[in-house]
Amino acid sequence: MEEKIKGLRHQAVSEIGAAGSAEDVERLRVKYLGRKGLVNSLFSGLSGVPSDEKPKIGNMLNELKGVVAAALEDAKNKIGGPASSSKIEKLDITMPGIKRPLGHKHPLTQIFDRINEIFLNLGFKIAEGPEIETMYYNFEALNIPPEHPSRDAFDTFYLVGAVHEPPLLLRSQTSTVQIRVMESQKPPLQIIAPGRVYRPDATDASHSFMFHQVEGLMVDKDIKFSDLKGVLTMFAKQMFGEDTKMRFRPHFFPFTEPSAEVDISCVMCKGEGCRSCGQKGWLEILGAGMVHPAVFEAVGYDPKKWTGFAFGMGVERIAMLKFGVDDIRMFFENDLRFLRQF
Ligand code: DAH
Repeated sequence: MEEKIKGLRHQAVSEIGAAGSAEDVERLRVKYLGRKGLVNSLFSGLSGVPSDEKPKIGNMLNELKGVVAAALEDAKNKIGGPASSSKIEKLDITMPGIKRPLGHKHPLTQIFDRINEIFLNLGFKIAEGPEIETMYYNFEALNIPPEHPSRDAFDTFYLVGAVHEPPLLLRSQTSTVQIRVMESQKPPLQIIAPGRVYRPDATDASHSFMFHQVEGLMVDKDIKFSDLKGVLTMFAKQMFGEDTKMRFRPHFFPFTEPSAEVDISCVMCKGEGCRSCGQKGWLEILGAGMVHPAVFEAVGYDPKKWTGFAFGMGVERIAMLKFGVDDIRMFFENDLRFLRQF
């Protein structure tokens, strides 16, 4: 057995030393170290060795294995070295690279960015407020007293069990930010407040219990309804195109007086009347008005000295019009087949 081991060692080392190509080395690896290779076949002979010699022979076999493996490694390095003309490792610079898919902004983020850009260019600053609010900011400060019927549509998600009396709630409108900004800053001011809002609405193609708004507020001496009209007209033209028309319909909001709902001429039919606008030719995009004196009083502004306008628009609504999407739920499902289109 000892002779056999020595013989095989000698044979292996000289054969491997003479290997001239990577294929040769691989063939020799299989020949010697493969599962059915020569080294393994000697290992199987170990059972026939008398037991007092087994440790010694076992050691020799392990050593043989190590020597053959090292010789193979050497041969591989020699052949695969930088100066060699190995066929295995060649850099093919014409091979196409691995493409990593690049993500992009969610369609709602794209619309947010555009809205923000338009108002920033008009001199507005961006303000933010919390999504978890007190009832005071969501209602009372906005001139919506406890028994007011307009609370119904806004009566939102209360945080039951929160250690806060009266309870906290998820804000139902970004108008809350108006109050927070006016409490902490002196007029004149000009802000927009983008953010998420929550309503107790059943979900369907045009309603969601969570959606996004951009609030606007401008306060100064002598701000007039015509300023509101001017700013919103600029916005509509930049957002939807120069030929977009706008109309103000009288409406009621507790925090503005007078108040209006604002429509733009339908982006699909240009005002002719189609399915998207319910044959009306107009699409509602926001609510607006002149800040109610009671709101100014709540934040300690003198309503005789200051006037202002405010507005609040639905971001999903604008995204749906802009991108021709007819179901609000698509924005929140995270279906890449939908999202990749924008
Ligand atoms: N907060 C209103 C809503 O969610 C939208 C709104 C209307 C905001 C008039 C305003 C405003 O600032 O002046 O329906």
